[in-house]
Amino acid sequence: MRILVTGAAGMLGTDVCKAATDAGFDVLAFERTRLDVADASTVEAAVRRAGPDVIVNCAAWTDVDGAEASPQAALEVNGAGAGNVARAAAGCGAWIVHVSTDYVFDGSKSEPYLESDPVAPLSEYGRSKLEGELAVAREAPEQHTVVRSSWLFGAAGRCFPRTILRLAAERDELTVVADQVGCPTFTAHLAGALIDLGRTRRLPGVVHVAAAGQCSWFEFATEIVASARLPTQIKPGATSEMPRPAPRPAYSVLRSERAGAPRLPDWRRGLDEFMALRVPVS
Ligand SMILES: NC(=O)c1ccc[n+]([C@@H]2O[C@H](COP(=O)([O-])OP(=O)(O)OC[C@H]3O[C@@H](n4cnc5c(N)ncnc54)[C@H](OP(=O)(O)O)[C@@H]3O)[C@@H](O)[C@H]2O)c1
Repeated sequence: MRILVTGAAGMLGTDVCKAATDAGFDVLAFERTRLDVADASTVEAAVRRAGPDVIVNCAAWTDVDGAEASPQAALEVNGAGAGNVARAAAGCGAWIVHVSTDYVFDGSKSEPYLESDPVAPLSEYGRSKLEGELAVAREAPEQHTVVRSSWLFGAAGRCFPRTILRLAAERDELTVVADQVGCPTFTAHLAGALIDLGRTRRLPGVVHVAAAGQCSWFEFATEIVASARLPTQIKPGATSEMPRPAPRPAYSVLRSERAGAPRLPDWRRGLDEFMALRVPVS
C-alpha cells in the first residue's frame, strides 16, 4: 500500500512517516518545500503522479498566536490547503486522513468533548482548522477521516515537554497555567492510530483521538520535571496572569463516542516514552 504524507518534516508528520514505514507502507514523504498544500495545481499534479492509497495531511499553519495577526495566511493553509489535498485525494480514489484540533471547541464544557458537540472556535487558528474540516468533508465526502487531537508532543518538534525541560535547566522556579485542562498526546501514539485509520478502520467523518486521562499544563509540567528528576519548583498560575494573543479553550479534553475509534494510552505513558528518547532540549 502506498501512503503520501504532507507536512512530513513536522513533529507529527515525522512520526507518521516512521509509523507508516514500520507498518510496511511504501511512503511518499512530502515536506513543505516539495509540496505546498496551498498551491492547488501542484497538489493535484503531485498526488496524481504519486497515486497513493492513503493520504495523511499533517501540513498546517500551527503558529496559534501568529494566526491572530495573519488570519488569511492561516486560512490559506489550514482551510483551502486542506481542501486542495482532499480534492486531490478524491480525484485518485485515495482515503484522506486529515488532522484537526481541540481548538475548534470553546472550552466551556467541564466534561469531555465528543464528536457530536457543537464547535465554536475562540481563535483564528481554531477557525482556520474548522474551515479545513469542512473543506475536507466537502471535497472528499465519501473517503475522509478528520481526526481531532490535542496538546501534541513528540521527538521531532518544538513542544511543551522540551520547553519545560529547557527552562527547568535554567531556572529554580517556573509558573505554569493551571486553569487549562486537556489531553497531552504523544505523536508516536497518534501516528500509529492515523495509519490504522487510513489502512483498515477508515471511519468516515470526524473522530476524536487523544491520549487517555487529562491534566492541566501545570500538572503536565510538574510530571515532566519529576520525571527528569530536576529540582525546579513548578507553581500554578492563571491564564489571566499570562495573556497570549490567541485565546485558548479552558477545557478541551477529547473523547470518542464512535464505535471502532482508536484508543490511545494515558498521557503519562506517552511522557514516559518521550523521556526515554532523551531528546535534546535546546
Ligand atoms: N501541536 C499541537 O499541539 C496540535 C494539537 C492538535 C492538533 N494539531 C494538528 O496536528 C497537525 C500536525 O501539527 P504539528 O504539531 O506536527 O505541527 P508542525 O510541527 O508545525 O508541523 C506542521 C508542518 O506543516 C508544514 N507546513 C506549513 N505550511 C505548509 C504548507 N503550506 N504546505 C505544506 N506544508 C506546510 C510545516 O512546515 P514548516 O515548518 O516549514 O512551516 C510543518 O512541517 C496539524 O494539523 C495541527 O493543526 C497540533
